[in-house]
Amino acid sequence: MPAPAVVLIGAPGAGKSSVATVLGERTGLAVRDTDADVERTARRSVSDVFTELGEGEFRRLEREAVAAALAEHSGILALGGGAVLDPGTRELLRGHTVVFLAVSMPIGVRRTGLSTARPLLTGVNPRATFKALLDARLPLYREVATVEIDTDELTVEQVAQVIIAEVGL
Ligand code: S3P
Repeated sequence: MPAPAVVLIGAPGAGKSSVATVLGERTGLAVRDTDADVERTARRSVSDVFTELGEGEFRRLEREAVAAALAEHSGILALGGGAVLDPGTRELLRGHTVVFLAVSMPIGVRRTGLSTARPLLTGVNPRATFKALLDARLPLYREVATVEIDTDELTVEQVAQVIIAEVGL
């Protein structure tokens, strides 16, 4: 059964999608992103899935997208920031090469800006929301990660280089 060469996890703004793109360019491996898979299945943007179908339905679609990608994809796989909330997904990630891209609250808020594409971060206080999200998820990211990289001070290119070196892509 194919397994992804590397699975990227981490909070919004950690750089999962950008790093996945650069890793694909550097290694020639195919890149897959479970947010894009959900959007294709639901025929809506992630933001519209949240608004029209609700977070519960998004999480269900995401769980299925992650399970399918882990079973089918042998390249670079980027997961949505909240995919690790699902215990079944965390179980499925066991045995895979999982890189946790860590980002602090101030840098994560700066990188995500006020984008409405991220429905979970559009509240009245994005800093508090982001901090609560990090506090709740940090143990989950660490539970499944085989490698952790602090991205705060690194460019996307540098993060990709560290992954290539650490994972041996
Ligand atoms: C989410 C992160 C998003 C997307 C959805 C929910 C989250 O992906 O899956 O908006 O719960 O953190 P990114 O991490 O790529 O922004």
